[in-house]
Amino acid sequence: MIPARITVEFASARDAREIARLSRRHIEYGLRWRYTPARIRASIRDRARNTIVARDGARLAGFGIMSYGADFANLDLLAVPVRYRRRGVGRRLVLWLEKVARTAGIAQVFVQVRKTNAGAVRFYETLGFLVIDEAAGYYQGRESAIVMGKALRPTHWPKPRAVKAGGRIVFRAPREL
Ligand SMILES: CC(C)(COP(=O)(O)OP(=O)(O)OC[C@H]1O[C@@H](n2cnc3c(N)ncnc32)[C@H](O)[C@@H]1OP(=O)(O)O)[C@@H](O)C(=O)NCCC(=O)NCCS
Repeated sequence: MIPARITVEFASARDAREIARLSRRHIEYGLRWRYTPARIRASIRDRARNTIVARDGARLAGFGIMSYGADFANLDLLAVPVRYRRRGVGRRLVLWLEKVARTAGIAQVFVQVRKTNAGAVRFYETLGFLVIDEAAGYYQGRESAIVMGKALRPTHWPKPRAVKAGGRIVFRAPREL
């Protein structure tokens, strides 16, 4: 059970250093550190992204970052420190970000997971995500990504393909919408 005292809200610039540290430790391990404090501060300011945190008093109990486009959203980063895991914090963060996407009329949300991270794949499956693709060498050429997606509303649109462009995964419908 998630403790009642844990709250979820927008991150502030003061959280950037700790979010970046969590990303390096729990997501970017073994890779060149890309989500530095400066990049997280930019993400917090970015109007096309939501950067949110779970707080347990003065402690960070997790964070998530989602980018929003017109039709698709992407969950860029999500991490919960070990001591707060399996208490529903990750689920609460994803559902918060998803609700914004759903309200904006976004049709599908995507996430990339390191291929060796079976626990995270399972976590997203419990939230209704499906494995839709694998992107070879997505993580700096060192590891592949499992690409997962979830439809947020009924759509007649065909399932988008994951396409690698400029080192990033983007999503293209098989035909122009
Ligand atoms: C993945 C992660 C965010 C999950 O956060 P969490 O707060 O522990 O997840 P929740 O407690 O909300 O889990 C909800 C359900 O997902 C499933 N789940 C979560 N973690 C799991 C794991 N490691 N293995 C299998 N199932 C898991 C369980 O069904 C769980 O419900 P239960 O605890 O009642 O069995 C967390 O493990 C983490 O930060 N991992 C390192 C970073 C990472 O992998 N980020 C995601 C890729 S960017």
